[in-house]
Amino acid sequence: MCGIVGYVGDDNCVRVLVDGLKRLDYRGYDSAGIAYFNNGKLNIIKEEGKLSNLINSVDLNTKSNIGIGHTRWATHGLANKDNAHPHKTGKFTIVHNGIIENYDEIKKDLIKKGYRFVSETDTEVISALLDYLYTKEKNILNVINKLNYFLKGSYALGIICDDDKETLYTLKKNSPLIIGVCDGKNFIASDVPAILNKTKKYVVLEDNDYAKITRNKVEIFNNGRKKDFVVKEFEYDDLSIDKHGYEHFMLKEINEQPEVFKKTTNPYLKDDLDGLLKKMPDFTKYKCIRIVACGSATHAGLIGKQMIEKYANTEVNVETASEFRYKKQFLKDDELVIVISQSGETADTLEALKIAKENGNDTLGIINEKGSTIAREAKMVLYTEAGKEIAVATTKAYSAQVAMLSLIALNLSLKKDLIDKTEIKEILQDVKKLPDYMQELLNDRELYKKIANDIKCYNDVFFIGREVDYALAQEGSLKLKEISYTHSEAYAAGELKHGTISLIEEGTPVVAIVTDDSVAPKTISNIKEVKSRGAYVICVTNKTDVDNDDFYDEIVKIPRVNDLFEPLLAVIPLQLISYELAKIKGCSIDKPKNLAKSVTVE
Ligand code: AGP
Ligand code: GLU
Repeated sequence: MCGIVGYVGDDNCVRVLVDGLKRLDYRGYDSAGIAYFNNGKLNIIKEEGKLSNLINSVDLNTKSNIGIGHTRWATHGLANKDNAHPHKTGKFTIVHNGIIENYDEIKKDLIKKGYRFVSETDTEVISALLDYLYTKEKNILNVINKLNYFLKGSYALGIICDDDKETLYTLKKNSPLIIGVCDGKNFIASDVPAILNKTKKYVVLEDNDYAKITRNKVEIFNNGRKKDFVVKEFEYDDLSIDKHGYEHFMLKEINEQPEVFKKTTNPYLKDDLDGLLKKMPDFTKYKCIRIVACGSATHAGLIGKQMIEKYANTEVNVETASEFRYKKQFLKDDELVIVISQSGETADTLEALKIAKENGNDTLGIINEKGSTIAREAKMVLYTEAGKEIAVATTKAYSAQVAMLSLIALNLSLKKDLIDKTEIKEILQDVKKLPDYMQELLNDRELYKKIANDIKCYNDVFFIGREVDYALAQEGSLKLKEISYTHSEAYAAGELKHGTISLIEEGTPVVAIVTDDSVAPKTISNIKEVKSRGAYVICVTNKTDVDNDDFYDEIVKIPRVNDLFEPLLAVIPLQLISYELAKIKGCSIDKPKNLAKSVTVE
């Protein structure tokens, strides 16, 4: 789930590995390690905690031309040095991203065969199994292929073997892995940025692919057969993983939203509707839509539901992928399944997509990472143009997903002839104004700092809203939890009185979102209910007639645009209040504890 780097070539391998791991640092991890051959001898160095601990333990001038490195996000066993990767059994040393679901039964079997285990990880059974199979059949490639028959779960593996000190091996299933190619040197990595300062050329491995990589040659196999492969060129520049003077990647990414909005919408909506009508697939044949995703992508889906139902009169149901994948399915024949994912690698979302495909439904992926697994597997893809997102907490990719869903709503509405010319004109004008409006909100840092200061002493924060504002409340609450470690809950404003209101005390912060005119008076009544019980109310609203009202303590005013795009403005204060609070509390903003950027395990 975390980072893998491997290298073979003439450069200083230890530096390449450490550098690669640093470049994957953004993904969140709890320990790190490297293994390399030096004068024919294998060295393994690993440390708990930050990469700097590992760097302090390695000699960066060591001569080595081949090795593997890993940042671990623990799934089985504590985050300590023994459990950190690489793991070595007999002649095989490996790093692993993913989870081996049947590790317990394999482990018991190998213990009976005389193997002893030093870690609590599921990973160590892979090195032990490799070693066992190798004692039966002295062929490294065959043995690696055989893992596919024994292992259940997800695995991206970097493998080196004492019997072949010039070759890097790899195998992958249900967890991403790429091979970076370059003259006289080659790499493996869990994600392209790890090697982007060395090469932009890479090959994406598919499930069950395994490879033999020397400094001059890459050979990829699947099920005993050698495969042809396509070398791709990474299209972002390396600078996209630079903070560009911002204190955190998250702040940089929040500030990129006006640009991302333009890039995502421009191909479809600029001066007219031409792009939208010509470039977007026709979804009118689907009677209803199911959106499946995880975390913030689900929250984007909830906004999409509001937009598509309202503008296109098409029923939309939103489900969390981890629940969807195990429940009884009632997908209809004429139902489009939309999966939303920034990374395009989220295990639960990928599984949901597979279920929809097996059921015979058409699938659409709204994906940020070009060429990712979900993008390749979905029948249709619409790419969001957020660029590389580094901070674990998503901001710009989330708003690009919301923008894309609004475009889908508008497209369907136009094709079904449900929208009048005046509103179309208004929308086209708003699209032009939106980046400036976003910028105005981004500039209001002092207000967000003040709010963060006002709420910093409270352990619980509530976010409330109705309809689209409830979907925004859920995203606001998730942002606050994940980066500032402040407990928070999002509630449909009308639900408070059914239980939650008992938690409101003198000073309890309540962030109330009021942008949807159709329910604004109702939400304001609910705000008054919490206010009269002592809540400290922060009202995020586009209403212009509330200046003299007393139902709030602090007001964040957002410009009024067509409902289709209002959430893209309202989310900015929510992101920045969380950011400022996390900063005041001294949290690890870009890499919150326990979280990883790409959740490739279920
Ligand atoms: C958002 O801030 C989270 N880090 C998380 O909820 C994320 O949105 C979720 O894991 C889905 O990721 P994906 O978009 O890459 O599929
Ligand atoms: N499941 C393995 C472990 O807990 C790998 C975790 C990872 O993907 O980082 O060690």
